[in-house]
Amino acid sequence: MSNNKKFDNIFKNMEDISKELRLESEIIQDEYLINGSIKYWKGAKQDVYSPICLKDNKQVKLGSYPKLTQLEAQQALDSAIKAYNYGMGEWPQMKVSHRIRAVEKFTFNMIQKRDEVVNLLMWEIGKSLKDSQKEFDRTIEYIKDTISTLKKLDRKTSQLEIESGLYAQIKRSPLGVTLCIGPFNYPLNETFTTLIPALIMGNAVIFKPPKFGVLLHKPLLEAFRNSFPAGIVNTLYGSGEELLTPLMRSGKIDVLAFIGSSKVASQLEHEHPKPNRLRSVLSLEAKNAAIVMPDANLDVTINECVTGSLSYNGQRCTALKILFVHENIVGSFLEQFNKKIDEIKFGMPWDKDVQITPLPEKNKTGYLKELIDDAISKGSKIVNKNGGTIKNTFMFPAVLYPVNKDMRVYHEEQFGPIIPILTYKDIKEPMQYLMESNYGQQVSIFGNSSDEIAKMIDSFVNQVSRVNINAQCQRGPDIFPFTGRKDSAQSTLSVSDALRAFSIRSMVAIKENKENRQIVTDILREHKSNFLSTNFIL
Ligand code: G3H
Repeated sequence: MSNNKKFDNIFKNMEDISKELRLESEIIQDEYLINGSIKYWKGAKQDVYSPICLKDNKQVKLGSYPKLTQLEAQQALDSAIKAYNYGMGEWPQMKVSHRIRAVEKFTFNMIQKRDEVVNLLMWEIGKSLKDSQKEFDRTIEYIKDTISTLKKLDRKTSQLEIESGLYAQIKRSPLGVTLCIGPFNYPLNETFTTLIPALIMGNAVIFKPPKFGVLLHKPLLEAFRNSFPAGIVNTLYGSGEELLTPLMRSGKIDVLAFIGSSKVASQLEHEHPKPNRLRSVLSLEAKNAAIVMPDANLDVTINECVTGSLSYNGQRCTALKILFVHENIVGSFLEQFNKKIDEIKFGMPWDKDVQITPLPEKNKTGYLKELIDDAISKGSKIVNKNGGTIKNTFMFPAVLYPVNKDMRVYHEEQFGPIIPILTYKDIKEPMQYLMESNYGQQVSIFGNSSDEIAKMIDSFVNQVSRVNINAQCQRGPDIFPFTGRKDSAQSTLSVSDALRAFSIRSMVAIKENKENRQIVTDILREHKSNFLSTNFIL
């Protein structure tokens, strides 16, 4: 691996970082939200270090957050159970229009904290300024879209149906106590893509921020407290194993919304004593492949493959994690691909146009080096300039070629800046990869022949959940379904699907006769029920 001098000055002194980006002092978070009040923690704390180092190579200490115990986890659970009150609490009973108002209030307050949250996103997880801003704005957009989609859904169900001698009204009702856990790569956005739909549908939520990207939720605590009834949002901080295991074991969690690894998801699910009662909404790992056909437009393909594999250093579940390039074009592909990677900007999250930044996970560069060493020992090479150069928490992207089945990087989700490339002669080879893979999220096909592409579409739609043509894999736009087969997901997320995932259809059916007609008329005319109601949200 190269030890090029161009990486020597990647980390700076604090004085070299512009003033508005610096964190003036450590963020000492003592607060946690349980039962509608912000409590102050006096026990053990977890120190938070940034993936960003200073010139002395030491990671910047950002602050600390509470290491809550099983006692607080139990209090959070009790508080959520009490607030939900078997679906008879204030929040699950509230009119949809009033719940929407509460979420709007929260959103208004959240927007006031944009700069603070964006800055923490950069410092806590090393995401570039542009992508951190995008994450925040996309989250606000997601909430707004959720509100308008719920309004439409509610309008559609605001009338009675008359069928086979029955009056009926069919609507969606909440499920109960929901445990929400987001991932570190989108600590705000992906946490909120489950938290907000769960809340707006009337559930009570316990939410635990991911292992990195905890402090950025601190500026939002008051907004949570001020926008929702007591006990509807409860926050937990600390070890997932210690806090979540007893929650699941209690059997009182109705919905598990988890975005992270399939291993942790199944451990949590298995702790639940009543598996049929538990609903799981899971977004898990993936190993999405790109298949580059001999007639692919190389300019488009290279651009999509570089961003597809390296946006946020490849730390996206949707990232392209293995590239199958047809043997006839692999020479020109590698030449152009490596040239583009050589031009990629690396540095600190706030540097202009930066794409490659330090990695937050502990000893991540060590793990990536292990994958590289394993591949090299089995016949692969790093084929790009400076590929795999490591400076503490930073690694310059490594293009590994040729890769084969015996190498760990063929199977493991690297979730970092390594791009494994292999050639294929017959389309059956990448097809075999998809069929045998433990994952089934997405695939990208690059090519020009409609005959070939059509055949691949028909085979691949039954292997993965999204086939991208001449484009990288991605989750967005958020109105599209985001899901996966095998170990990649359970349930589907999109703005509208999430509303369904966190609710169940409930109906009222009334036998059509004179007396019942009067009962229904009275209820509707005098607005006696929140559920049986023809109110139309404008
Ligand atoms: O980490 C997985 C994310 O859901 C990916 O979302 O494709 O918008 O980056 P994205």
